[in-house]
Amino acid sequence: MAEKSFKYVIVGGGVAAGYAAREFAKQGLKPGELAIISKEAVAPYERPALSKAYLFPEGFARLPGFHCCVGSGGERLLPQWYKEQGIELILSTEIVKADLAAQTLLSAAGEVFKYHVLIIATGSTVIRLTDFGVQGADSKNIFYLREIDDANKLIEVIKAKKNGKCVIVGGGYIGLELGAVMKMNNFDVSMVYPEPWCMPRLFTADIAAFYEGYYANKGIKIIKGTVAVGFTADANGEVKDVKLKDGRVLEADIVVVGVGGRPLMTLFKGQVEEEKGGIKTDGFFKTSVPDVYAVGDVATFPMKLYGDIRRVEHVDHARKSAEQSVKAIKATEEGKSIDEYDYLPYFYSRSFDLSWQFYGDNVGDTVLFGDNNPTSPKPKFGSYWIKNGKIVGAFLEGGNPEENKAIAKIARLQPPVEGLEELKNEGLSFACKI
Ligand code: FDA
Ligand code: NAD
Repeated sequence: MAEKSFKYVIVGGGVAAGYAAREFAKQGLKPGELAIISKEAVAPYERPALSKAYLFPEGFARLPGFHCCVGSGGERLLPQWYKEQGIELILSTEIVKADLAAQTLLSAAGEVFKYHVLIIATGSTVIRLTDFGVQGADSKNIFYLREIDDANKLIEVIKAKKNGKCVIVGGGYIGLELGAVMKMNNFDVSMVYPEPWCMPRLFTADIAAFYEGYYANKGIKIIKGTVAVGFTADANGEVKDVKLKDGRVLEADIVVVGVGGRPLMTLFKGQVEEEKGGIKTDGFFKTSVPDVYAVGDVATFPMKLYGDIRRVEHVDHARKSAEQSVKAIKATEEGKSIDEYDYLPYFYSRSFDLSWQFYGDNVGDTVLFGDNNPTSPKPKFGSYWIKNGKIVGAFLEGGNPEENKAIAKIARLQPPVEGLEELKNEGLSFACKI
């Protein structure tokens, strides 16, 4: 059986792996020291592109255009770059067993990989409707979106079912971004989700009302307060109808499901401490096992700013946690110390002509400001979250780079506010003057 040994192994070849590789190269790496093992067939890329420009009908993005680290304005790391750095990219290779005590990984094809230091960067997988036993949920043309292969399959069927009907199940990130791109592809789109408004984990009712209004004006039908309980298929096994819990039936040529993600950590179950549904780490992304680090979607880490611990499923954290772990690894080797991770949550999304950013924590009272009329030619509005008399979170739709920087700054600095009414009147200028 083939056995390979490396000083550092990153298991998972997604966003965090790409940014960790760049940091290793920056810190100094000898050829053959680092391997990235990924079940995907391509070098690390900026996953957010998959639900946006990758699916555009025209002017679409394709690899190698969005390999890491272009998403944060950095250099594009092509497969050639890894070669030049002496980093082994072991692609199309799924790790099926991890033995942390023996510092060994086993692939589906039977290869054995040994390491001194391991970075777990396996990310998330999608929650499937078949997991809940939804009838007919294994019919053809019901799609989930996580990896480039999923996107490629969806594109094939978008072409085959031209101008057809699409039902989007879920009103979170995937739901809203896919609803928009399917409409841009000229599908007749319906969206179904159980909550009273979209993105309830982040959006207030006021924020959601804008996006729901905007989507409705684009011709997207929004059906709230119910779920998909079954699918019927035609003679070819292709989805035909979506049955809703409230009794309605929607015709569908394509269904896209986005009902949440689940961190991929089964390989390490029982071998490493867990917390809040993720692998427990410290402010350097060290796990409970020596020389094993966990970054990105799988890591539950101390959120210094709020004095608690959290898991974050967003790209900015995947990038930064990866960099932090590599800095920590190198500092440990050199007997040096680095500062603990001090993360300011940053989430964003784009759809149609819209673009929003959010920084901080969405807890406490909220104040909405600006023009949130979905029919405005250039809507620009936002919201502050206020807790214990201080601004702790800020959201902005349609901001320019300076304004986005201002809301990031305000969420970090947490200035006190006099009154909510004054804050509402001042709106964005309150953030811009800080
Ligand atoms: P990531 O999922 O990127 O990578 C994990 C890698 O590990 C994958 O390559 C996987 O194949 C591999 N792997 C898993 N198990 C393995 C095994 N056993 N053996 C080998 N390889 C294995 N966030 C945001 O802030 N803004 C945005 O706009 C978007 N948009 C977006 C769109 C879509 C379609 C998705 C799915 C997600 C987003 N996100 C996002 C979330 C963001 O992409 C996500 O948080 C990061 O990709 C997480 O980075 P990781 O490296 O942790 O996992
Ligand atoms: P999500 O958690 O954002 O949304 C899940 C949504 O599923 C809920 O809001 C709810 O409306 C819906 N839901 C739950 N059960 C349902 C059911 N039975 N029927 C219908 N709807 C149901 O998850 P997602 O949108 O699937 O995204 C998956 C992952 O990808 C997440 O980690 C997310 O952070 C990431 N992602 C992020 C972005 C971004 O940051 N812009 C974009 C795409 C994906």
